[in-house]
Amino acid sequence: MLRYVTTNEGKVAEAREYLDDVSALAYEYTEIQSDSLADIAARGAREAHAHAGEPVIVDDAGLFVDALGGFPGPYSSYVEDTVGIEGVGRLAARERDEDQDDRAAFRCVIAYCDGEEFAASPDPVERGDRVTAAAAGPDEDERAGDEDADDGSNPSGPPVKLFEGVVRGRIVEPRGDGGFGYDPIFEHDGQTMAEMSTAEKNAISHRGRALAKFGEWYHERSE
Ligand code: IMP
Repeated sequence: MLRYVTTNEGKVAEAREYLDDVSALAYEYTEIQSDSLADIAARGAREAHAHAGEPVIVDDAGLFVDALGGFPGPYSSYVEDTVGIEGVGRLAARERDEDQDDRAAFRCVIAYCDGEEFAASPDPVERGDRVTAAAAGPDEDERAGDEDADDGSNPSGPPVKLFEGVVRGRIVEPRGDGGFGYDPIFEHDGQTMAEMSTAEKNAISHRGRALAKFGEWYHERSE
């Protein structure tokens, strides 16, 4: 069975719209420090697969504000807890040039790992390159000289297939009571994500788009 590595049941419910058989796996994988969602998710997927011994998906998401050079991006969670979403909205408004608009994007990367190789396809495959390994730093086994460490940090670990979903919008004053995180300051098609119903949000969200791509590929792979 496919395991979605998360403690968020809402994410699993959303994933069930695209996948027949998926259940949550509450496992705390190492979140490496990186400015790439793909690197973070790939490292997590490798580690979670080594732990679970089953096919896994790990997601990583963030808000990328154009006027802030993509900030907070992969640091969205930390920035939400420290600066807060209103603070990010004020920062974005302050940094906006007159000719620069208020554009932003939510991005989500889903990383899939089942320990197998993947056939060529347009979606990228992360093969545990040196950047990921360097960002993760040497772990206990590597320090002890064990090149076969199987906890996800091994640069020669199994490949990970990546699926990205993006939704573009504008940063606005907070509106709406629904959703979570940055939803109240992110407007898409005239509504903030916090003003949308769950179904409306899922239909256009970055995670929904990444899950749809993944679901299509996964069904073909399982046939
Ligand atoms: P995570 O990768 O799902 O843990 O999300 C990382 C950060 O992005 C957290 O601060 C979330 O609140 C924020 N975030 C992720 N997805 C969404 C979304 O759909 N709406 C609003 N904020 C989100």
